[in-house]
Amino acid sequence: MARHTVCRVQDLPVGEIVPVNAGRARLVLSRLKTGEVKAYAGRCPHQGAYLEFGCISDLTEAERPNEVSVDPSCSVLRCPWHGFEFSLENGQAVVADDHGRFLKLRPFDVQIEGDDVIVVT
Ligand code: FES
Repeated sequence: MARHTVCRVQDLPVGEIVPVNAGRARLVLSRLKTGEVKAYAGRCPHQGAYLEFGCISDLTEAERPNEVSVDPSCSVLRCPWHGFEFSLENGQAVVADDHGRFLKLRPFDVQIEGDDVIVVT
């Protein structure tokens, strides 16, 4: 395992995706509303899009047509290619793919030491 200091905590505004390099790996970081910092592999598990070009929003759900609810306690990262949404809490897709599988982003451990954000690969 290798530890990489990839940025400072203040470089991670809540609600934004920050791409970083950790060794040879391209990752995306995001600071949640709770302050927790998450790191995931930078490519989408569906077909490999660069997630750094995606966007973050609150989770939206709909039980019926024309009824949409927003859950501000859960942020999702939306892939720029086909729109799969992944929970930033655990990296799991919000909906299943065409084969009934729930894709998942590859997580990396994050450690905060002072102002430094360290990712373990
Ligand atoms: S490549 Fe990400 S949803 Fe298809």
